[in-house]
Amino acid sequence: MTEARVHRFGSPADAARALAAEIARTILQAHAARGKVTVALAGGGTPRALHRILAREHRELPWSDTHIFWGDERFVPHASEQSNYRMARETLLDEIEIHERNLHPWGTDLLRPEEAALDMERELECHFAGAEPRFDLIVLGVGADGHTASLFPASPALRITDRLVATAEAPDEPRQRLTFTLPVLNNARAVHFLVSGADKRAAVECALRPGQQPERCPASMVRPADGTLSWWLDEEAAP
Ligand code: 6PG
Repeated sequence: MTEARVHRFGSPADAARALAAEIARTILQAHAARGKVTVALAGGGTPRALHRILAREHRELPWSDTHIFWGDERFVPHASEQSNYRMARETLLDEIEIHERNLHPWGTDLLRPEEAALDMERELECHFAGAEPRFDLIVLGVGADGHTASLFPASPALRITDRLVATAEAPDEPRQRLTFTLPVLNNARAVHFLVSGADKRAAVECALRPGQQPERCPASMVRPADGTLSWWLDEEAAP
């Protein structure tokens, strides 16, 4: 992996707009090269602005050939206000021309998290025709504790190397989570962290300059082996 690229902006909106332009470039390049684009979105609240800009200022993208996954999800119904799927629908997917078959949400309406994890693993194996999943781009956020996706500090999921997904336990509600594992994140062609707010600065610092205990800062363990890693930060989150 080449060194992480760190981009600093005066505001969260500026960071989101710049990342949206980079995502647009990546989607167009991937579409030209392979005719199909595969993206994983982040959850939480930060991506809202990014999604709205993509929906309003990048409608021309080949969304009909773009497949959308989520790097993680809370084990709540899709209709829940805490659902990352619902957030993406409201801020992006309901605003663009994209077919339902291109959306690959976690099966949180299934009975148990383990079932939803197995279901997603099968979905990934099918979408990537049995090859190691290689996303064209993955967007991630960071928690103040250094977690990313639903990979939390000291989580056993951080050591999984033979599975594509894992269930996880969050320190806050909703506690039951589903997440891609590091092998999937680190096999992406491009990973983009979008982070804003002073409460995230220490986590960003730790992720960019990991110490001897990377498992204390899972975001520091996202280092694409054959891809690019970029940080899109507002001035409050930037070290
Ligand atoms: C989630 C996310 C999680 C998020 C960070 C930052 O499901 O909550 O995937 O990893 O990216 O917690 O969340 P905010 O953007 O809300 O600060």
